[in-house]
Amino acid sequence: MKITIVAGTRPNFVKVSSLIKAIETYTEEDVPITYRLVHTGQHYDDSLSQSFFTDLEIPQPNVNFGVGSGSQAEQTAAIMVHFEQELMEHPADAVVVVGDVNSTMACAIVAKKMNTLLVHVEGGIRSFDMTMPEEINRRVTDSITDLFYTTSIYANENLMREGIDESRIHFVGNVMIDTLLNYLPTFRKPDIIDFESLIDGEYLVLTLHRPSNVDDFSRLKEILNLIEEVGQEVKIVFPVHPRTYNQLKHIELDSKNILFCPPLPYLEFNYLVKHCKGVITDSGGITEETTVLNIPCITLRDTTERPETCLVGTNVLVGSDKEQFKKYLKLMLIGNWKSSSVPELWDGKSGKRIIDHLITFIKNQ
Ligand code: UD1
Repeated sequence: MKITIVAGTRPNFVKVSSLIKAIETYTEEDVPITYRLVHTGQHYDDSLSQSFFTDLEIPQPNVNFGVGSGSQAEQTAAIMVHFEQELMEHPADAVVVVGDVNSTMACAIVAKKMNTLLVHVEGGIRSFDMTMPEEINRRVTDSITDLFYTTSIYANENLMREGIDESRIHFVGNVMIDTLLNYLPTFRKPDIIDFESLIDGEYLVLTLHRPSNVDDFSRLKEILNLIEEVGQEVKIVFPVHPRTYNQLKHIELDSKNILFCPPLPYLEFNYLVKHCKGVITDSGGITEETTVLNIPCITLRDTTERPETCLVGTNVLVGSDKEQFKKYLKLMLIGNWKSSSVPELWDGKSGKRIIDHLITFIKNQ
């Protein structure tokens, strides 16, 4: 049984760590399952790629296409050309794609055209915002996926509404949370904590990388000014994604409280989050992690493809509404936040559920 697992970007690495660990619980005698790990090279900086392989003990990929950056079409096309060659040389019983990035969609199309069983981990989530490249990636991928492993009942409902037969949809929980819970005991204090004398529960964490927030200079500046204005004395640690860094170089900022730093390795970033007062972000994955870590979270987006993080978790959406942002930031600072719980099946065992099910499915085909 040969499975090809695709990863290309930072959040993908967090997800495949869990799947690979689940596969490795089998010995050759139990189940003859082998896998190839394909890295598309969409993310290539050490801080977004290799540091995740190291922290999350992911074996080196069998191949790295090294596609790097480019326009949406250039990146997608380059990944497709490489992946077609890869699958011709190394046919698989199933191709597993995770998440919603360009690598996910590009490899999904290739796998399906080569009549390979296509498996989407984190299928079915929808922001209903077609201006996001990720939403297009999700819809294209799910329109050709054979087997869906989902993180929530909302994802199941979306897929069924789109006409997918229930028998192909499996609600298994969240592999990103498997990794979080697995590595929680080994989170590592980043240097910035001692260097800036940050006190537990008294600083905020900020991340921004969505084109809608960072590609427009005035929007980016407005967000940082608002945080600075309302945040007053509180320190805000801002690990800067390369996309955002490229933009920040062009704007003048007078920030006293925002502490800019390069992207952090997984174990350090999650240490920072676990010990902070609250998080301000436009990432989807981080809203899942703050929900499980019970850390207040403000999302600077109008929509979310992860409604459970708002409905039962610690997340609130403020979009581009300045007044809402200020209101929630003040509540965050005084420590007045809604109570929350952990969504169903986000229990650290999702990777195992997926691999167990997939093995049985392939055997019975
Ligand atoms: C991608 C995903 C996004 C995900 C994010 C996580 C898509 C469409 N977007 O966004 O869903 O949340 O990853 O981080 O797939 N760059 C570097 N070094 C790198 C990678 C990127 O400098 O290792 C710079 C390049 O200038 C590049 C820009 O960042 O043009 C954007 O990178 P790209 O992979 O296109 O999208 P992300 O914004 O990282």
